[in-house]
Amino acid sequence: MKRDLTYDFDFSAKEIWEIFELTRKLKNKLRSRTFGSLRGRSLAMLFQKPSTRTRVSFEVAMTQLGGHALYLGPNDLQLSRGETIADTARTLSRYVDGIMARVFFHQDIIELAKNSTVPVINGLSDEFHPCQGLTDIYTIWEKLSFPKSFPRDFTIAFVGDGDNNVTNSLLLLCARLGINFRIACPKEYQTKEEILDLAKDDISKTKAGIKIINNPQEAVKDADVIYADVWVSMGRQDAEERKRILAPYQVNKELVFGAKEKVMVMHCLPAHRGEEITNEVIDGPNSIVFDQAENRLHVQKAILVKLLNG
Ligand code: CP
Ligand code: NVA
Repeated sequence: MKRDLTYDFDFSAKEIWEIFELTRKLKNKLRSRTFGSLRGRSLAMLFQKPSTRTRVSFEVAMTQLGGHALYLGPNDLQLSRGETIADTARTLSRYVDGIMARVFFHQDIIELAKNSTVPVINGLSDEFHPCQGLTDIYTIWEKLSFPKSFPRDFTIAFVGDGDNNVTNSLLLLCARLGINFRIACPKEYQTKEEILDLAKDDISKTKAGIKIINNPQEAVKDADVIYADVWVSMGRQDAEERKRILAPYQVNKELVFGAKEKVMVMHCLPAHRGEEITNEVIDGPNSIVFDQAENRLHVQKAILVKLLNG
């Protein structure tokens, strides 16, 4: 049976830890390369939206694993002339060993997965960004020097748009792995009830403290990680209103000062410097954003090996 990564809950906690262990091994071997394990395999990469990290890291990941990736932009396929997602998935499945897709509607990822006979990986939809979420938690684990589990009181504070793909993915992963996750967001952009409902069973099992707090200063108090993402995600229309409402949620020096002294500052990138995060914070001593960006490559290699190698 082929497996997909459509959203964060497609992997059990045990499988997530296996991905992290595999990432650690693959990253250690980077300098000697890890050619071979996907030799002769191909990955189709469908992009309906722009991308720097996802596009380049998946393509390089396939090369380093001995395989090949095809970039298929918004105008490259007959999808742009009305061919259905289902027919696209059926056709691509006859050529390639995996499909990675970045889409607007999450339903398109589901439709691709349903109709393809090869694994489908979500490279970002409006609702979830599982490759980013897995990379973020892996990066934190690496910075903590690979403990057996996350410390009970370890807390990530996400500050900004509580209703976006990165927030949703982090929330699900924290619920699954038992990591405390606070979301500082305005009432207008609060995390959807459906997402909280999805996480409910995991929260009751792992006892992860998942909280929505409207006050950013309160949310970052004693936090171990402060996480920022853009205020206007790709495809959102109401940019000016969002910037106005989200202005009090900027990650700046004053806000960082209220967290633990060694707080790690994260951002999935791309950043809108001067909006959701200031230059002095993103370029400052607490920032780990480029280690985080690098790890997209290593984590995705592990995901590709797991899904494409079976
Ligand atoms: N973080 C992330 O997914 O970046 P890109 O949009 O550049 O792929
Ligand atoms: N929330 C952002 C993430 C970009 C990687 C967006 O969807 O644009």
